[in-house]
Amino acid sequence: MKTKQVAVIGAGQMGNGIAQVFAQAGYRVVMIDVIPEALDKGMATIKKSLAKFAQKGKITRAEESEILGRISTSLKLEGAAPAQFVVEAIVENTDVKRKVFSQLDELTEPDTILASNTSSISITKLAAATNRPNKVIGMHFMNPVPVMKLVEVVRGIATSDEVTSLVMDLAVQLGKTPVEVNDFPGFVSNRILMPMINEAIFTLQDGVADKEAIDTVMKLGMNHPMGPLTLADFIGLDTCLYIMEVLHRELGDDKYRPAPLLRKMVDAGYLGRKTGRGFYDYGNG
Ligand code: 3HC
Repeated sequence: MKTKQVAVIGAGQMGNGIAQVFAQAGYRVVMIDVIPEALDKGMATIKKSLAKFAQKGKITRAEESEILGRISTSLKLEGAAPAQFVVEAIVENTDVKRKVFSQLDELTEPDTILASNTSSISITKLAAATNRPNKVIGMHFMNPVPVMKLVEVVRGIATSDEVTSLVMDLAVQLGKTPVEVNDFPGFVSNRILMPMINEAIFTLQDGVADKEAIDTVMKLGMNHPMGPLTLADFIGLDTCLYIMEVLHRELGDDKYRPAPLLRKMVDAGYLGRKTGRGFYDYGNG
């Protein structure tokens, strides 16, 4: 299979970044979302990110417009039909994702690879919604996608060796460093990251220190680029809670119980940067 046309389903925080990195690597990309405003916002984010790269001389102004020229948008899932490679980056909801995978299975050519950027939903479960479980795989990018080097390549129970090695190679072509992992709740990244964030929230809840102190300890003491509470705001507190619930439910161990303070903040709508308020205040964003 020679990939020329890529479809990215979802124009949100992760989807637009994924569309951008494929276009930067020379692929024609269609970015698909059912909400017109999401497509507009996604394209605006891509333009801003490319402008940053151009400003720093990482790409030329000519390349900037060539990259943009390779990205088209569509409001219909049918827009994915000509793609040889699809990456799904929609809402973290198993039923919604399974429905999209089943539709993609109908729409696309039988040898098209269907990848998911899910942070915590079982690849095996998504694959089971298709007639090509050997061609379904996880391609878990990190936020912000244009900057972060890692791609976790997640093998479902039926993912073939051939598809896995193709996706590993593809990630290298995107300028990323792929790591192969098996399908298990939270994979590697979120199995380790989210309990750390959750523990930082317990530390705050227990009054051990204030938020700035907790973040400073981890930033300066462990050389993390962001403290865990700042990072939780960056990722989205709803996403953090969702992933903790997956770990708790599916691994069945109370060490993964979400901090009550995390739940309370999500209930209040304090979701982090995207709502202007999380552990920190971001004004109007
Ligand atoms: N596009 C282009 N460039 C960007 C960018 C974007 N979207 N976002 C940041 N940059 C660039 C900046 O321009 C800057 O470039 P320079 O070094 O050449 O000047 C560089 O990246 C650093 O940005 P800033 O100076 O604005 O700020 P920081 O030094 O704090 O870096 C950061 C920002 C890269 C986000 C850094 O804070 C960081 O690495 N934070 C941790 C991110 C992280 O852990 N991500 C993983 C989240 S978990 C996840 O995604 C999994 C999911 O399943 C939950």
